[in-house]
Amino acid sequence: MPSRQTTNETLSSTDRRVAALAPGPPVNIATGQAADPGAGEREVTFRLEGVSVRYGEALAVKDVTMDIHHKDITALIGPSGCGKSTLLRCLNRMNDLIPSARVSGRLWYHGEDVYGPKVDPVQVRKLIGMVFQKPNPFPKSIYDNVAFGPRTTGMKGDMDEIVERALRSAALWDEVKDRLKENAYGMSGGQQQRLCIARCIATEPDVILMDEPCSALDPISTARIEDLMHELKEQYTIVIVTHNMQQAARVSDRTAFFTAEVDEATDVRTGVLVEYDRTEKVFSNPGDERTENYVTGRFG
Ligand SMILES: Nc1ncnc2c1ncn2[C@@H]1O[C@H](COP(=O)(O)OP(=O)(O)O)[C@@H](O)[C@H]1O
Ligand SMILES: [Mg+2]
Repeated sequence: MPSRQTTNETLSSTDRRVAALAPGPPVNIATGQAADPGAGEREVTFRLEGVSVRYGEALAVKDVTMDIHHKDITALIGPSGCGKSTLLRCLNRMNDLIPSARVSGRLWYHGEDVYGPKVDPVQVRKLIGMVFQKPNPFPKSIYDNVAFGPRTTGMKGDMDEIVERALRSAALWDEVKDRLKENAYGMSGGQQQRLCIARCIATEPDVILMDEPCSALDPISTARIEDLMHELKEQYTIVIVTHNMQQAARVSDRTAFFTAEVDEATDVRTGVLVEYDRTEKVFSNPGDERTENYVTGRFG
């Protein structure tokens, strides 16, 4: 295992190394076209080149090539089982925690190989935080939930200020400032999810990954989180998995549509990237018939 210090050095110098390390723009092997047309010189946060994921023998995601841009909200959409969560988990090495999962291909984060030998997955997950489908606060006070990350990573600074800043960024401060010592389980579902976002923000990540963050919430709480995402976008790069197409259309700048190809012989479903473009284009004028069928609610 590499030492923490080496890794911190490696990751904190990423910005300076972007120009040196980043390969040329990815090209879709099938079409010979750049996988992200029209992106120009915008800063790339993630570059995926032929990323595939297997669970044991089963190929769950095949050959994904795409760029994810700095301070964009990128939505991953597609039918259940097409590998959206699997692909999202590649971005911060959460698949490392699933023993049968194997990731292949190349994945660059600000020009740095996320799966490189010097990279510490714990550090990766601090920079690239994650919010899950079901709010999962710890059975602790509101304050301690937010302070948890900064305390474990030994963040410097006044803890009260760190906690307040994170709660303000998550649009939760006014609702909880008078009950910071109360248990987080006493909050509503929507508040718990914003608390989880605050907990993620508290460690000052660069990217927030969200896996269907609103699917357990009512419409009002959902609208709150969507508003919050618009605010967070000023500061963070966000990648969201959603099966709610209206949500993707409302919140995201770019949308990647995935589908599952079924192997007749083995019945294994393998996720492939069908189309990736500006959200407006994907929803109003998709380039692939499969995307059109999906976004218009027609399958087949
Ligand atoms: N931990 C796991 N072990 C084995 N197979 C898994 C695991 N997680 C997901 N899969 C399989 O990988 C495929 C993609 O799943 P997933 O990424 O959850 O899709 P989505 O998020 O698009 O619904 C599915 O066939 C699913 O059964
Ligand atoms: Mg999923």
